[in-house]
Amino acid sequence: MEGSPVRWYVGGDHGAVALRKHLVERLRAGGHEVVLEVGPDDPSDSIDYPDIAVEVCRTLLAEGDPASRGLLVCGTGQGIAMAANRIPGIRAAVVTEPLSARMARTHNDANVLCMGGRVLGLGLAEELLRAFVEAEFEGGRHARRVGKIEAISSPAAATSAKDSPSEHGES
Ligand code: RB5
Repeated sequence: MEGSPVRWYVGGDHGAVALRKHLVERLRAGGHEVVLEVGPDDPSDSIDYPDIAVEVCRTLLAEGDPASRGLLVCGTGQGIAMAANRIPGIRAAVVTEPLSARMARTHNDANVLCMGGRVLGLGLAEELLRAFVEAEFEGGRHARRVGKIEAISSPAAATSAKDSPSEHGES
């Protein structure tokens, strides 16, 4: 896996135990540091995915390093992403194919990657992780748009984002 090694905060529910363990192993093999891994060891240990999302995302944000990343998995990736995206500062992207995994970083500056253990094979999930890790945020017009996302939940950011209209012809 290319891309600079960073610190990862990982969590998942009972719907993605094998996926979580596999991706943690791949991250470590790629030289990344997994500083937090939350979730059951056994798929029969049912756990509520919002609790996992909150623990992982709050710990990630508390660390304060914008280079650090979160990885959240559940049965589909959907519920845990919905919960994560309620937390200001978290931009969680559910991905099922490589283009979205890459563009979640290049255009959306996603800091949390979400996937579903009942949706993806391990090989595809690994490819999605690699695409996410190797892509970099492009900034520019995308930074303005990400600023507008953050302004939705942060009144302080709202003033500057409002004064930055999009320009004709931008993609
Ligand atoms: C758990 O059964 C399941 O609902 C959860 O893993 C996830 O898929 C929710 O979005």
